[in-house]
Amino acid sequence: MSAAFDLEAIRRDFPALDQQVHGRDLVYLDNAATTQKPRAVIDAVRNFYERDCSNVHRGVHALSQRATVAYESSRTTIRKHIGAHDSREIVFTRSTTEAINLVAASFLRPRLQPGDEILISEMEHHSNIVPWQLLRESTGAVLRIIPISDEGNIDLDAYQGLLGPKTRLVGIVHVSNALGTVNPIKEMIAMAHEKDIPVLVDGAQAISHLDVDVVDLDCDFYAFSAHKVYGPSGIGALYGKRKHLLEMPPFQGGGDMILSVRFEETIFNEPPHRFEAGTPNIEGALGMATALEYIDGVGLEAIRKHEERLMKEASLRLPEVPGLRLIGQARQRAGAISFVLNGIHPHDVGTILDQEGVAVRAGHHCAQPVMQRYGLSATVRASFGLYNREEDIDALIRGLESVREVFA
Ligand code: ALA
Repeated sequence: MSAAFDLEAIRRDFPALDQQVHGRDLVYLDNAATTQKPRAVIDAVRNFYERDCSNVHRGVHALSQRATVAYESSRTTIRKHIGAHDSREIVFTRSTTEAINLVAASFLRPRLQPGDEILISEMEHHSNIVPWQLLRESTGAVLRIIPISDEGNIDLDAYQGLLGPKTRLVGIVHVSNALGTVNPIKEMIAMAHEKDIPVLVDGAQAISHLDVDVVDLDCDFYAFSAHKVYGPSGIGALYGKRKHLLEMPPFQGGGDMILSVRFEETIFNEPPHRFEAGTPNIEGALGMATALEYIDGVGLEAIRKHEERLMKEASLRLPEVPGLRLIGQARQRAGAISFVLNGIHPHDVGTILDQEGVAVRAGHHCAQPVMQRYGLSATVRASFGLYNREEDIDALIRGLESVREVFA
């Protein structure tokens, strides 16, 4: 462990970790659903309400100016964190889901003809499936699916074969929320670009585990949410190459996305403001930037190594539980491990684990097609964050022994 990575100090930064659930110390292993928040993020949101609360881009008074500066400097923090060159390439959204819907509505929709193809993988979250299905309904486009192997790896040969003259966009998840697979997205983006096909990356699960550099990846769009990376709910971001954003019509109409409005004609604002209609989630943006500063302060490399150790340990020890089967054993994984216990429904496993103080997610993880791929309706998923420790894996395994005793 790196000397700078002080796990106990990190844990003290997260007040929610210090509590009991059903009389047991909380073991929080549901980080892929949402992460806990460090005190710095909670304080950033509270300070905004206590001192600077006002609207952005509108007021001449001091509070509004402070809020505007804080909001726009949050955009800069996000830009730096993901390695983008221009803050105008960062659009604040409500979530990863909204970011993907924005690309579907404003980027892809105007380019689609009946029969055009949108390529996604078999391991996508519903947020990277349903927006394309809606587009399919309204445009006559076709959704094509990149298959995955039993281990949970993308079939790159099949992907190469699916990239065709009618492909208008590839939408691919960086890290699968259900399997933990880390996809070779840099290679996949290069393969798509050889055929001039733009690529949108769903980075919701990657952003807390990997050092994302959108310029190095050369992705056209990268979507992520704050709440998965120790920030507040209800705020996310879309990175989009400037050349794309400039061409895109507005997603929603309202205040702040315009330069001038007359009944005869409205002139739209420049990106990113063109895509941020209405009063934004100002405190969310501040909290998001604070969360990214927090993990930058700890160090993404140290976080990656720590989580990798936890993933390795869990992957070795979980299969020792009788009747347990891991779902997805891809070459490279991050954050999440899915499994099933023979003859016991995942919801029962999750409910008994909860009684032991262990929080996991049990269900289809908003990724039903990948469940179907494995012939399952649900799995149990343990997902890790920077504050998890080996004792958490001990508690999970003890909890699974209790589950087996109950169902013996
Ligand atoms: N997408 C979140 C998850 O995987 C909610 O749990």
